Amino acid sequence: SGPALVDPFGRHVTYLRVSVTDRCDFRCVYCMAEDMTFLPKKDLLTLEELERVCAAFIGRGVRKIRLTGGEPLVRRNVMSLIENLGRHVKAGALEELTLTTNGSQLARYATELVDHGVRRINVSVDTLDEQKFRAITRWGDLKKVKDGIAAAQKAGLAIKINAVALKGVNDDEIPEMIRWAHGEGMDLTLIETMPLGDIDGDRTEQYLPLSVLRAQLMDQFTFADIPYKTGGPARYVEVKETGGRLGFITPLTHNFCESCNRVRLTCTGTLFMCLGQEDAADLRAPLRASDDNDLLNTAIDEAISRKPKGHDFIIDRRHNKPALSRHMSVTGG
Ligand code: GTP
Ligand code: 5AD
Ligand code: SF4
Repeated sequence: SGPALVDPFGRHVTYLRVSVTDRCDFRCVYCMAEDMTFLPKKDLLTLEELERVCAAFIGRGVRKIRLTGGEPLVRRNVMSLIENLGRHVKAGALEELTLTTNGSQLARYATELVDHGVRRINVSVDTLDEQKFRAITRWGDLKKVKDGIAAAQKAGLAIKINAVALKGVNDDEIPEMIRWAHGEGMDLTLIETMPLGDIDGDRTEQYLPLSVLRAQLMDQFTFADIPYKTGGPARYVEVKETGGRLGFITPLTHNFCESCNRVRLTCTGTLFMCLGQEDAADLRAPLRASDDNDLLNTAIDEAISRKPKGHDFIIDRRHNKPALSRHMSVTGG
């Protein structure tokens, strides 16, 4: 272990997001092209190596780890990683071990997740219409995801639903989604689509500023600001009519970078200091160079000293290319 991680802007890094695989069993239209190419398997860190990097970060003050992907639950043997990371939760070193998942494999894994110390998960559901769900995910089965959610709830997991707001696709359904999520005792967060990686469609046509959607929702709902914080970027309101929490993640209309507390590890051992910047640090070489963590810790310090101030995503006709060629599935958002 070593000193806390503080970046040049005085922000403490206490949250590590780990993309355990860039692969996914869905191909959401805002995330990937249908013929997406994935990283060669030979470049992957082993699960033991991923755990070692996580442990090094815990030693440096990280208190929250979120496994993402791609789809984290499609990585072979990922449960062994979750079990080992869960030991840090049980030992009190880690406050939260959690997952962002598309839910397709949840029915199978829900109880094991709870056994390993996971208490809360985020599940992506952009629509409640089965046909639309298939169109957005390209071949996902909404029924299977809903069964996964039910299994997770039965196992005692708290759930936040993520919905990317897509103009002309799911905007008309958001009131129904609020009532559904809150009726099931789940939080819901709405997300602005971010210009990461090439997709088949036109992102400028799908982009819906949440300021606009929020104003529309206020015809039907009453929002009260609440101080609820998860360590993530969402700003939450309580919806008076349902009693549930609704979060807004607004990287475009209201940047939240000044309170950023997170960095991102990819499945190949690259550390991205910001979701919206290319700058990265290789942790694989120092990890493999020696069995003690000195080189790894030096590399981590060097990376944090380069954490950028923030991102500057733009989506409009004149910027119809992705801000970054990297897909969201490489860093898991
Ligand atoms: P909790 O707050 O712990 O529930 O997690 P979260 O909402 O931060 O994580 P999740 O994986 O569910 O991500 C939801 C959305 O937030 C995704 O679209 C992420 O890409 C986005 N997000 C998370 N962190 C950042 C960030 O630092 N910058 C930007 N621009 N988006 C982020
Ligand atoms: N912009 C915004 N959110 C995205 N997600 C995936 N790609 C994008 C994007 N380009 C969402 C997923 C998931 C979370 C990790 O990020 O739907 O809920
Ligand atoms: Fe897979 Fe998530 Fe990307 Fe959809 S958004 S293709 S579920 S990684």
